[in-house]
Amino acid sequence: MGYDLKMRVWRGDQSGGDLGDYTVEVSEGEVVLDALHRLQATQAGDLAIRWNCKAGKCGSCSAEINGRPRLMCMTRLSDFEPEETITVTPMRAFPVIRDLVTDVSYNYEKAKELPYAELGPRDPDGKRRMAQIDVERGQEFRKCIECFLCQDTCHVVRDHEDNKPAFAGPRFFLRYAELDMHPLDTHDRRALAQSAAGIGMCNITKCCTEVCPEGIRITDNAIIPMKERVVDRKYDPLVWLGNKIGIR
Ligand code: SF4
Ligand code: F3S
Ligand code: FES
Repeated sequence: MGYDLKMRVWRGDQSGGDLGDYTVEVSEGEVVLDALHRLQATQAGDLAIRWNCKAGKCGSCSAEINGRPRLMCMTRLSDFEPEETITVTPMRAFPVIRDLVTDVSYNYEKAKELPYAELGPRDPDGKRRMAQIDVERGQEFRKCIECFLCQDTCHVVRDHEDNKPAFAGPRFFLRYAELDMHPLDTHDRRALAQSAAGIGMCNITKCCTEVCPEGIRITDNAIIPMKERVVDRKYDPLVWLGNKIGIR
C-alpha cells in the first residue's frame, strides 16, 4: 500500500543551505534511500546522495535521519508513523560537499597515521599460527564497513572541530585495538594510541556503539581494553625507568 511521505531534506553546499520540504509517494517496505531516489527521479534531479550497495555493506549512505546518525539504506520507513515528517541531513561532523554528501577525508587521514600490521618470523615449518580465540576476537572488529557513523556521533569531534587533529575517533580506536590484540603483530601501538590518536580524550560515553550498524561493541570490546593496555604500559616500571633515562 502506498502513501504520501512528508520529507525535509537538507539542500546546500559549503557556503550554506536550508531544509527543503517535499512530499514523496512511497510504498510499504521501502527504506529512506528509496524515498530519496524517488524524490531525485521526480522532483529534485540535482539532489546529491552518496550510496552504492543498498544492502548496508558499503558504508556510503551515512546521514542523519531525524537527528540520528544512520544508514539511509537500512532505515525502514515503517520505523516511523506514516504521518510523521522524516528529516534527512548530512553528517554533522564532516564538511558538506553538497546536499547529503560530506567530505569524510578526515577519516582517511587518521587511517594513514596508524601503523600497519607487521608479522614476526614464521614457524620453522614456514607457517604462522595463532590461537582460535585470537582469530575470533578479531572477527568482530573486521565487520566494520567504514560508514563513519561512530565518528559522526562522537561528541569529542562532533561538538569540537578543533579536536580533530588530536583525535582519531572510535572507528580507529577499533583498528588500534584489533592490531594491538593480533598475537603475531610486532608493532606496539599503545604509546601512539595515547599520543597521536588521543584515546585519553574518549570519556566512554558509548554513543559510538549505539549507532554502529554492524553492532560492533566498540567501547566495551575495543576502546576500554585499549585504554587498559595504554595504562598498563604507562605504569610498567621498565617503561617508567626507560622514559626517565630516555631509552623508550
Ligand atoms: Fe561504522 Fe561501526 Fe565501523 Fe564505526 S565501527 S565506521 S559505526 S561500522
Ligand atoms: Fe566518543 Fe565512543 Fe568514546 S562516542 S567519547 S569514542 S565511547
Ligand atoms: Fe551501501 Fe547503504 S548504500 S550501506
